Amino acid sequence: MPTGLQSPAIATDADAHCFAPRLLAWWDVYGRKDLPWQQDRTPYRVWVSEVMLQQTQVGIVTAYFERFMAQFPNVLALANAPLDHVLHLWSGLGYYARARNLHRTAEIVANEYDGVFPDDPQTLMALPGIGRSTAAAIVAQAYDRPAAILDANAKRVLARQHRVGGVATAAATVKALWRLAQLHTPPHRAADYTQAIMDLGAMICLRRQPRCAACPVDASCQAHAAGETERYPERAERRHRRLQKRRFFVLTDAGGACFVEKRPAHGIWGGLWSPPERDADLSVEAFLAAFGIAEQDVQQVHVAPVIRHGFTHYDLDAIPIYVRLRKRPGEVREGDGAWIDPANHLLGLSAVAAKLLAATRHLSCKEMLVHEP
Ligand code: ADE
Repeated sequence: MPTGLQSPAIATDADAHCFAPRLLAWWDVYGRKDLPWQQDRTPYRVWVSEVMLQQTQVGIVTAYFERFMAQFPNVLALANAPLDHVLHLWSGLGYYARARNLHRTAEIVANEYDGVFPDDPQTLMALPGIGRSTAAAIVAQAYDRPAAILDANAKRVLARQHRVGGVATAAATVKALWRLAQLHTPPHRAADYTQAIMDLGAMICLRRQPRCAACPVDASCQAHAAGETERYPERAERRHRRLQKRRFFVLTDAGGACFVEKRPAHGIWGGLWSPPERDADLSVEAFLAAFGIAEQDVQQVHVAPVIRHGFTHYDLDAIPIYVRLRKRPGEVREGDGAWIDPANHLLGLSAVAAKLLAATRHLSCKEMLVHEP
């Protein structure tokens, strides 16, 4: 039987005491030590990496992190940068509230903390975008002080080690896991232990087909003993995914410049720029009329294949409509927009917007089929 929530079993006190030493001994030999944020560890670098890693995998984050650090090497550089530039470097990473919060937090650290990063979890947690686990990861990795983390990897390791039942996102499950995270966090080598539990989750205690034969804590792992590793942590039942269809009107002028609009500060792609996104049933004529574009200024219209994009809870079908203009409208009537060179700008674009704009370079006039939707 699963342990249940109230008292996740700790097989013996000896096992509880052995967990961290075994994990650290394994990490000394097999753990990751050459990740970019492990070099030149400053609270700033650790913070940026932890925020990037909140919802994105190491393999993707590495290049983004290096580019970000090259542009914004310290918290003051970030605080002084325009938000558009920050979002530009975040383009494609997703979950853009992270970038907005990162910028806001940099401003707070610059203005209220004299540019010095706070070093205690409570103060860190009061900053935008820093939750309990991220605050602990900063304290442990930047200051090498014991602080328990509970990211997705640590959750999986601990839920299996102690056979903690209940859906992993439920409050009672999370509470039980935090208790265990604190129990195992050792007083010394806080930075290494934090990396070690994340590495174990990423390299051995995999969501599917964990490599238990190579695990340093398999002897005390209750899910392993029960032959039920893949049952933990329990996942919430998947809800039916919605599909949303939207039209994206990509206006290009004779010189190849594209028109983009700034999206509202909050919500999906908040603060990013995108070709105008409209209802799926808005006709080209109605769109052009709203923009004050005369029919004789339209050279060609081309409807391209749908781009499907997955969000956490729904899928988006972006229907690209390329409109090549003979000349730009004198003044665009709708929206807060700009004409940009798709290959050379400093604005934040969603992955979908970047794909839409990239395609304009390949669509020569001849290739554009005249197709009126
Ligand atoms: N995920 C979150 N933080 C991480 C780190 N420091 N290294 C690898 N993966 C992580």
